[in-house]
Amino acid sequence: EKGGYDHFMLKEIHEQPKAISDTLTGRISEDGTKVVFDEVQFPAGFVKDIDRIHILACGTSWHAGMVGKHAIEKLTRIPVDCEIASEYRYRDPIVSKNTLMVVITQSGETADTLAALRQAKEQGTRVLAITNVVGSSAAREADDVIFTWAGPEISVASTKAYTTQLTALYLFAGWLAQERESVGASEVPAILTALRDMPANAEKVLETAPAIQAFAKEWSSREHAFFIGRGLDYAVSLEGSLKLKEISYMHAEAYAAGELKHGTLALIVEDIPVIALVTQDDLYEKTLSNIQEVKARDAFVLALAWSGDQQIAKSVDQVIHIPKVNPFLAPILAVIPLQLLAYYASVARGNDVDNPRNLAKSVTVE
Ligand code: F6R
Repeated sequence: EKGGYDHFMLKEIHEQPKAISDTLTGRISEDGTKVVFDEVQFPAGFVKDIDRIHILACGTSWHAGMVGKHAIEKLTRIPVDCEIASEYRYRDPIVSKNTLMVVITQSGETADTLAALRQAKEQGTRVLAITNVVGSSAAREADDVIFTWAGPEISVASTKAYTTQLTALYLFAGWLAQERESVGASEVPAILTALRDMPANAEKVLETAPAIQAFAKEWSSREHAFFIGRGLDYAVSLEGSLKLKEISYMHAEAYAAGELKHGTLALIVEDIPVIALVTQDDLYEKTLSNIQEVKARDAFVLALAWSGDQQIAKSVDQVIHIPKVNPFLAPILAVIPLQLLAYYASVARGNDVDNPRNLAKSVTVE
C-alpha cells in the first residue's frame, strides 16, 4: 500500500507531479490560454462585484492561503485577507454582500474551518471551498467547490494536499483575472503554460532528495533551525518550518528575512542551521544581504535557489538548486525540498514519520 516507499509521507511527496497534473486536468482550455472552472457558478454579475476576499484555513492549508492571497491580489487587485479560521470566527469580521469567502481544507472536516464557513453562510456571504475530499462537510456546505485531485493523503503531515491547493489557487486567481478582465488577465496564458510544465519540474526537484537526505542526517541532531525568505519565499518558509517541527520535533522558526534584525538575530549563533529561500528575483539583493547578516554570525546557511544562480554559492555553505520557473509560481517547487528535509530529519531521529506524536490527521475538535 506504500508503493515500495518506507512511509506514506515519502510516497505522497513523490506523488506530487501526478497530483498537480490531475488538479490541472480539464481546467485549461484546449488552446491553453484560459482557465475553465465549470464548477464555479457565481450568481450573475458577482464575479465583477467581488470587492474583498477572505481566505480561511488552518495549518498547512492556511500557508497555502497566504500564497493564494499574493496570487489573487497580484492578478486581480482585489484586497484579500488570509486568516487562521480559529481566529476569524471569534472576532467580528467586516463582510458585505460583495465579499467572497474561500475556505481551504484538505479533509473538508476541520472543525475551526467549518465553523468559519457556517458563520459566513449565516451572514449571507458566498463561500467557495477548496478541498480534497468529495462528499466532505466543506464540499457539501459551500456554495461552490474546487476539488484538489491529490488522491487520499494518509500521512498526517500534509504534502501533496498543499501543492495541489497552490495549483488550485493559481488557477482560481487566473480565472478571476480573466473573468474580471483585470490587470493580470494578460499574464494568464503564460501562467498556464508554466503550470502545465510544473509536473515535469516537480519531478526534477525530487532529484534533490539525496543531497537533502545527507544534509538532514548531518543536521538532525540539532535542536533549532531557521527558515528565512521574503515575499512568497516567506510563505513557503512558514510551511517548511511547520513541517520540520511537526515530524522531526526540532524547534524551527520561519522569519521574514527583513524582520530578523528586529529581534531574532540574537538567536543566530555559530553553526545554527539557516535555510534561506531565494527564488524571488525582485527581492534577491535584499535577501542576500539578510543572508550575509546570518553568515556574519557564523550560521550554517543552506540556500534554495534557481538552477543557473551562480552567485549564491559565494555567500552560503550549501546550495540546493531547483529548475527555474516564473518566480510567481516558485512556491509549488520550493516547498518540495523542505518537505524532504522534514521527512529525512524525522527518519534520522527515529520518529514515527506518518503518525507524529500528539497529532491527528483531521482535527474535528475546536
Ligand atoms: C500539517 C497539517 C495540518 C493541516 C490542518 C488543516 O502538516 O496537516 O496543519 O493542514 O490541520 O487541515 P485541513 O486542510 O484538513 O483543514
